[in-house]
Order: sequence, then structure tokens, then C-alpha cells
Amino acid sequence: MNRRRFLTTSATPLAAATRRGGTVDFSAVREDFPRARLSAYFDNASCHPLSVHSATALHRYIDWETNEVGDPWWPHWAKARDESKTLFAQLINAKPSEIAFARSTIEAESNLLNGMNIQAMGGNVVTNDLHYSAALYNYKMRQQAGLDVRIVRNRNWVTDVRDVEKAIDGKTKLVALALVSNVNGYLQDVKAISALAHARGAYVYADVIQCAGAIPIDVKAMGIDFAACSTYKWLMGVKGYGFYYVREDLQGSVVKPTQNSGGVQFNYAPWTSEPDSSREDIQFKPVTGPGRYEVSYPSYEGAIAAQESLKYIHALGVDNIRAHARALTDRLQKELPALGYASITPKGNESPICAFACKDPAQTMEKLNKAKVHVAMRFGNKMRIAPSVFNNQQDVDRLLAALV
Ligand SMILES: Cc1ncc(COP(=O)(O)O)c(C=O)c1O
Repeated sequence: MNRRRFLTTSATPLAAATRRGGTVDFSAVREDFPRARLSAYFDNASCHPLSVHSATALHRYIDWETNEVGDPWWPHWAKARDESKTLFAQLINAKPSEIAFARSTIEAESNLLNGMNIQAMGGNVVTNDLHYSAALYNYKMRQQAGLDVRIVRNRNWVTDVRDVEKAIDGKTKLVALALVSNVNGYLQDVKAISALAHARGAYVYADVIQCAGAIPIDVKAMGIDFAACSTYKWLMGVKGYGFYYVREDLQGSVVKPTQNSGGVQFNYAPWTSEPDSSREDIQFKPVTGPGRYEVSYPSYEGAIAAQESLKYIHALGVDNIRAHARALTDRLQKELPALGYASITPKGNESPICAFACKDPAQTMEKLNKAKVHVAMRFGNKMRIAPSVFNNQQDVDRLLAALV
């Protein structure tokens, strides 16, 4: 890594670099992502590159960890931790008091299931086959242990709301879905699904890792009760750090904490010089709020990268981010089928991810690698292309030229 390059590049104030006359200058945005200079990188649905701003913030932290002595480390960096939570809450129209730190999306969904204890209530869970495979594995394991799990199958790469309706009954406690599918970028009709779930007394969980930061999300308007994501995709951060949203009125009642982390105080010698005989020997106070779902310290590296990247995303504006990607995916959706790559993403789908079936995946990858174009090839022959803020039409030209 060329540290000097980070520091020089990031000296440009974010607002000036990204917004001119109220509109975003995406060519300046491209400069913030050095990876864009090396290749046409379209694999953002796997892992998004860091901007120079987040990288510089991480360098500051590493310098501090390496060279500073004396002060305890956590008060110094707590602002980054708290601000990342607030910025994420704003992004999805939640309150900071509804957001817990999470280490991973899949872990948060598993904690939610443990905390709802649906099996003991004789309830069932409805999910669908466009959810992430590790989440479905979790449901299959729970099904094996006796939980009633209903996995709705897609029809032509879309979850039909009528199929979800048939699967939900009076015993359904949770409808769980990936708001945007990692398979083909399909954006679920969560509002309609939530209306069905809520009418039967069930709650809705949305895995938002493939869309938070990339499309507007409003958990209140969309009827989402729980959500989670890591920061290493569209939030432009690192692995091991993310967020877990639990609607405020459901905390502690519908969703119990399943891992406890807090502190105790000893009310006897030699722990204290002034024991208070009216109080318990060992005292503790149960954690309230979203902190009840948090265990130990979050990753401060994750928090620092996320603080910076979330500020960046807010400065660009999610609507502008979405509009920028739409121009690229619209073109891919139009031109790739003409080259023999059939789209498996529904027309007019509102996410930056699109996928295409390849007749010869090995040859396709060879051509793309040679042209320094990065995509994901998944599920045998599905080519997933996921442009972000730094991609431009020249990247799309390069991709199309490689596949002609
Ligand atoms: C839809 C979806 N959910 C979850 C994950 C995994 O998330 P995490 O690593 O945060 O557990 C992925 C990773 O690709 C994904 O695409």
C-alpha cells in the first residue's frame, strides 16, 4: 500500500470532490477508489473496495494503536463507534436505540431466531429460496431439529407474493428474506409480504447486506421489524462489523437476548473498602436497549471504516448512488442478452445487481480475466455483475467488448 497516496488523495474535501452544483460528480468519486484504476471491478456484491477516506481513517487508527501510549484506547475511539450506529440508523430510517452492533449478518439472523424461540412456541418460519445459502442452511439445521420451516420456491427468479401468502398461517411467527438476493439482485416486494405477515401476527426479518447503501431503505415504510447487515459490501467497510436492527417495542419482549455481556460489582472486602450491608454481595444491572444484543467490544477497525464510509454514502445520497448504478445495469440488461447471455434478473428490478446465464462459464471467465474485468460466476453458470459508485460506462464498454 502506498500510504502517501492515501493521504494526498484524501486531502480533497469530500463534499467538494463529490458534489458540484448540487449534483454528484461521479468521475471524482471514481478517484476515491484506487481499485478502479486497476481493472473494471464489478464484484461489489461479493466485497466492495474501500475508499481512500476509509483507508486513511484506518491508517490513523493503526498509527494510534502502534505509536500512542498512556490513555485507555476505547474512549478515544468511542465517537466513531457511536457515530457509525447513528449514521446507519439514519440510512434505514430507524433510531440509534434500535441498532445493535453485529459481527455478521448471518450471526445476527441466528441470534434473532434464538431470541424469538419460535420452536418452543409451536410456531413456524416462512422464508424463500432466494435468501442467502448460509441463512437457508441455518433454517435447514433448525428444521432438522424440529422447527417448522417453509421455504417458498421462486418462479422464474422471482418470489411470488401469492406463494408467500399460502405459506403463512396463524402459527407463522417470522417471515425471513434477503431484501435483495445475492443470486440475481431481486428486490423482494417486502411491503406486500410484510402486510401479509403482520395481518397474521408474524414479524418480518430482512437481510439487507445486498442493498443497505445501494438503494433507499425505510424499515418503517417497508414494514421491516428486524434487519441485519455487515459493512463489507454496499456500506463500503470491512468484514467483522455490521448492524442489527430490532424494532424498539419488540426488544426484550419478542426478541430476548441470547448472549449476555455486562459487568458486576462486588459489595464485599477486599473488592470494596465500603461494603453496603443493605445491598447484594454481587450486584449487576441487566443491560437495556439494543446493547442487550451486543457482546463485548465491537471491532473498532470496523466502526472506524464504517463511520467514514457511511458519511461518504450520506454525502453522495442513496438516490444518486442508485441512479448512477441504474444507468449501468440498464445498459447491461439491454446488451448482454443480445450477446447470448440471458438475464435472470427481472426487468425493471430496483437493485444494482444483475445476473446472466452463461453457456460456457469457463470461457466467459477466461475472456473477462484477460480483459481485467471482475465479475462473480456463481451457481455454475450465473454471471453476477454489480456496479457501484466508482464504475462508469467505460467499464461497461470493456466488459461488453470482452464478451463479443
Ligand atoms: C444476501 C447475503 N446475506 C448474507 C451474507 C453473508 O453475510 P455475513 O458475512 O455478514 O454473515 C451474504 C454474503 O455474500 C449475502 O449475499
